[in-house]
Amino acid sequence: MKLEIIQNQEELYNRAVDIIFNFLKNGATTYGLATGGTMLPLYECLRNSKLDFSHCRSVNLDEYVGIPKGHPESYHSYMKRQLFDAKPFKVTFIPNGEAQDIRKEANDYEELLKSLTVNLQIVGVGENGHIGFNEPGTSFDSESHVVELAASTREANARFFDSIEEVPKMAITMGISTILRAECILLIAIGEKKRFALEALLKGVITEDIPVTSLLQHPNVIVLTDLNMDDI
Ligand code: F6R
Repeated sequence: MKLEIIQNQEELYNRAVDIIFNFLKNGATTYGLATGGTMLPLYECLRNSKLDFSHCRSVNLDEYVGIPKGHPESYHSYMKRQLFDAKPFKVTFIPNGEAQDIRKEANDYEELLKSLTVNLQIVGVGENGHIGFNEPGTSFDSESHVVELAASTREANARFFDSIEEVPKMAITMGISTILRAECILLIAIGEKKRFALEALLKGVITEDIPVTSLLQHPNVIVLTDLNMDDI
């Protein structure tokens, strides 16, 4: 694992863009994408960059179940607004949270992901250590599946909705083993609320109680954080 502590956030996101630029330059065509607050400055930097993804494919980590794709806070809408309208990809894949049979949709998403190689998977981390929507206790062997969101995750995401009642209770997410199949994983962790998760990762204890620690089993992970980790 390569840890880069960059306390200036502008520099940190520029570094993330630089990493993506290097993947593009080396011919990488398949990018795993994430949503959430952490990724907003990254997508702003990408929108303002000269990078061209028109020959690339993207696969997103997750999507809510229970709100339509057209809802402003669906991850379909988020990705369109934050990245795809400005930087079109050749093809984009996001789980369909409106599917009639959501379990079949999750299985189909996994099959699709098995048919391709993700060159670079970008992930954020939840305050409880989740990656994608793999909440604490999720098996590291998990594949794409339907998940009930933890109360703490719904509370954390309530800031994007008018009230907590509006935050969906379920989602489709890539599993942990799905995420770990990517050739390289870029984790971005910003702010004190992520200290618990990042400390667990840096302490090197692998536990299903803190899903982000699964990244310790991966040979090629880059962590970008603005957190001072001197005590670890
Ligand atoms: C989003 C995702 C989540 C977020 C995590 C952090 O696609 O998979 O794991 O990365 O919840 O969210 P923010 O960045 O809003 O703190």
